[in-house]
Amino acid sequence: MTVDLACDAAINDPVAYFAAAREHGDVQWSDAHHAWVLLSHAEVEAGFRDAENLSADRTGSFARAATGRSEAFGRAVQLISGWMNFRDPPVHTRLRQPVKAAFTPRAVSALEAQVHAIVDQALDSLGEGPADLNGQFAHTIPATVIAAILGADPADRHRFQGWSDDIGRLVFAMNPGQSPEEPVTSAAAEFVAFFSRLIERERRTPSSSVLSAIVHSDIGELSELELVGACTLLLFGGHETTTTLLTNALALLLERPALMAWLREHPESTETAIEEFMRVGGPARSMPRKVAHRHQRGGHALEPGQNVFLAIVAANHDSHVFQDPGHIDLQRDPNPHLGFGWGLHVCLGANLARLEARVALQSLLQRFSRIEPAGPIPPVRASAMGFGRRPVPVRLGR
Ligand code: HEM
Repeated sequence: MTVDLACDAAINDPVAYFAAAREHGDVQWSDAHHAWVLLSHAEVEAGFRDAENLSADRTGSFARAATGRSEAFGRAVQLISGWMNFRDPPVHTRLRQPVKAAFTPRAVSALEAQVHAIVDQALDSLGEGPADLNGQFAHTIPATVIAAILGADPADRHRFQGWSDDIGRLVFAMNPGQSPEEPVTSAAAEFVAFFSRLIERERRTPSSSVLSAIVHSDIGELSELELVGACTLLLFGGHETTTTLLTNALALLLERPALMAWLREHPESTETAIEEFMRVGGPARSMPRKVAHRHQRGGHALEPGQNVFLAIVAANHDSHVFQDPGHIDLQRDPNPHLGFGWGLHVCLGANLARLEARVALQSLLQRFSRIEPAGPIPPVRASAMGFGRRPVPVRLGR
């Protein structure tokens, strides 16, 4: 058997699938992925920490993709090459520090009132009866929050949602060389024009936004394109993922009315519940790396240039770390899931995502005493990299 993170068994019964897979070792070569797959919590965590042997740098494949293409495509590639998640130290450190300094836990908790207001506004748009919790709730909240953080007009969020999708064709391409010139180049040009204006405004008139803190950071200096790159990365990393966490959590609660009833009665446990939603239904199922140096891992010799998947989904269902991993326990504590990654590249927006999910779910359950599926709940949809439930149409009642 070769490990296949995207097969039905791995998606529908991760506990049994990965327990059986680990019988053959915590590190395995997968013919399905043409990559090494790390399968235990200990190996995945170690993999996230070992930035020296496992590189996150994708600039080589981006640069190759730009060869022989238009100048505009080259600029799009340059923009993405400024994303810290695609870089190794020391460039990664230089790109991350000013953003990290602006994203302190204090800065994030200062956003709580703003997040509450955005959530209330989304809930106000929902009446009793049939509702689209995806469009009017799960999608709207993260996009509006990230717009506010970047000092952008929330009304513009539809524009940059489209640009994000377009630039995703390059970012998520298995082979960036095959990604189309259009709409990637237009989206990159629009992003640069849009954020350059915002950055210029922050330079002239500093505000209290996170963007302002990044622009005026005295920790390291980012070039103009790197600043725009940081904005596009925050926009990109900060909205689709959090939307997916919300839709996954909602689907899970709708499938298990007893869990929804329990959470309604215990709003003070929403924080621990969100960690459990991240463990069993986190949007990221695995993260890719490339072997930088020949080294040993799990008894195997890994060769430079080989691909590696850090299987977050396997780690999060590892019975060596999580008691009864198939059981959804909204009070599980501690809950060392790896849904936000670990180590050098650990998610910079994790606390913001947690804040948004907590306020959104608490407020939704408080506002509506009845939330029921209005039709069949669509089956789970997942790839090797991501996990996203399709939106569930619901009926709401007060
Ligand atoms: C539920 C929501 C989210 C999930 C599941 C998630 C997941 C992740 C994961 C797994 C990584 C590690 C990537 C790697 O190791 O290669 C990461 C990195 C990152 N995330 Fe998130 N994220 C979420 C929300 C956010 C938000 C709200 C923001 C910003 C506003 C954000 C910004 C970032 C950034 C900038 C990085 C790159 C860090 C680095 O490379 O040093 N994320 N995220």
